[in-house]
Amino acid sequence: MTRARVAVLISGRGSNMAALLAAAADPAYPAEIALVLSNRADAAGLAHAAARGVPTAVVESRAFRGDRQGFEAAMEAELARHDIRILALAGFMRVLTAGFVARWEGRMVNIHPSLLPAFPGLDTHARALAAGVRLHGCTVHLVSAGVDEGPILAQAAVPVLDSDTEGSLAARVLAEEHRLYPAALAWLAAGRVSLAGGVVRIADARGATGSLANPLPAAPGLSKG
Ligand code: GAR
Repeated sequence: MTRARVAVLISGRGSNMAALLAAAADPAYPAEIALVLSNRADAAGLAHAAARGVPTAVVESRAFRGDRQGFEAAMEAELARHDIRILALAGFMRVLTAGFVARWEGRMVNIHPSLLPAFPGLDTHARALAAGVRLHGCTVHLVSAGVDEGPILAQAAVPVLDSDTEGSLAARVLAEEHRLYPAALAWLAAGRVSLAGGVVRIADARGATGSLANPLPAAPGLSKG
């Protein structure tokens, strides 16, 4: 099996990157993480990748001071050098130009910590708490020109509990991110993802059954009928 060569783009901690590396350690996984690329030299995820023998590169966005085209040209050079076919954004906190997005159309995925289209952008967990939503979660999507926009590949939902803080909710969502992202990247790398009218179809994917309600309709103390 030829595995698709993937670059994971990070800006910081890299826990989703670590989840992708762990999945790709299985030779049966359809993607090989051939490069971890960061726009910050101090991204903690770089050391984790290097310790596992994964090639790393840094293209410092700060060095380009508003020259987004120059920054992206430098990134493209690294991606070409490593013969990359698919990009997985994993906490990569730079907005990409329409030209870059167009060049990688259908081959670039992102993970976002909300159930898109709710709460694009930053501080998703605080905003979910403030809005009082009872279900929150994460989304893996193909990247299109808008920030945190694009056809949705997969979502995972978690309950929001009355006792939640931003930190506890973030942790519950992050655990789901680490399960969802490797699965979604595998579908893309295996060529199972297609688009029909802007909507993703995944060949031979198992749809979830059942439902998640929060609070539970049959909560203790609720009188019947
Ligand atoms: C993750 O929660 C990811 O979903 C989010 O940044 C975090 C990175 O953590 N991405 C975005 O908000 C993109 N809009 P990580 O570096 O530990 O993977």
